[in-house]
Amino acid sequence: MFVDAAAALLSWYDVHARTLPWRAPPGAPAADPYRVWLSEVMLQQTTVAAARAYFLRFTERWPTVESLAAAGEEAVMAAWAGLGYYARARNMLACARAVAAAGGRFPDTEAGLIALPGIGRYTAAAIAAIAFGRRAVVVDANVERVVARLFAIETPLPAARAAIHAAADAITPDARAGDFAQAMMDLGATICTPRAPACAICPLREGCAGVRTGAPERLPVKPAKRARPRRHGTAFWLERDGHVLLHRRPAKGLLGGMRALPSGPWTPADADMADTAADGGMADAPAAAAWRAVGRVEHVFTHFALDLAVVAAEAEGRHAAGDAGEGEWWPVDRIAEAGLPTLFAKAATLACAARSRPAPGDQP
Ligand code: ADE
Repeated sequence: MFVDAAAALLSWYDVHARTLPWRAPPGAPAADPYRVWLSEVMLQQTTVAAARAYFLRFTERWPTVESLAAAGEEAVMAAWAGLGYYARARNMLACARAVAAAGGRFPDTEAGLIALPGIGRYTAAAIAAIAFGRRAVVVDANVERVVARLFAIETPLPAARAAIHAAADAITPDARAGDFAQAMMDLGATICTPRAPACAICPLREGCAGVRTGAPERLPVKPAKRARPRRHGTAFWLERDGHVLLHRRPAKGLLGGMRALPSGPWTPADADMADTAADGGMADAPAAAAWRAVGRVEHVFTHFALDLAVVAAEAEGRHAAGDAGEGEWWPVDRIAEAGLPTLFAKAATLACAARSRPAPGDQP
């Protein structure tokens, strides 16, 4: 075992730590648990680069766990829009409310943290280490890669996870646990990168079994890939008097509770062919109208890729509140404020672009 890994890594971190808005500098007292927790929730969903802007916006608007707990679900979901996986945002709010209800302090142990909504094994360990300085074994995807290489663990993922966790445990120090966890993350993000690790400048090179194999980039060994299934659907941009019809998606399920364009079911490519062929996906249109195609959106979810046809039409008459059924008429010139998830924001962009072009057959 590489006994000096922690010391070598912490010395490197003292000089090379990334400066991030949720982070205390190396060796400094731990950062505010609320900020650590919020950053970890976001970083499960997106990259460090993308999380930065969301984090700054959230903490400016909701600087404490109490202020976030007091926010309306709609405002929080809208601020989260674009990060995806909206169940995480709902759990985040439930967690803030649980912490606020218990006096506003996050539990300072892994066991206490993991009992909160939306906090799993990784997040509990990360918060315990980074916000409370507790020794905890923090293994995210970056750390997984560093450890698999350091110990040359050849078992393919996901079966390798137990061995990786045990090896990470073996090198985790008692002191500076938060710095150590973040140092491992930074090493994985900047030096021990997936395809082209910069082994020549790695502080762990001397003890790295992976580099001695001659091809550390092979590790960790990935599981055989399964093809992501494709689904097809249609989204409807129905406009009336400068307003567009938006629905709210059912609370349970994909993009649950988010504002959206009306859209029919998303069906596997080879299922319901007869239906799809017969009506071109129009059976679920929110109104009978002269629908025209404005483009297609490709979007990749965790378990499938979606090919969404976008169609647009003008409804007759002036818009009036109360005649949108279960939906709402939203001003087109304020569509950016609707908090649409990325899929529907892309569809809206297409529809707005088509709007400024004359429809085929229009008189000049
Ligand atoms: N990824 C997850 N948590 C992180 C952190 N605290 N710093 C850098 N990358 C991270």
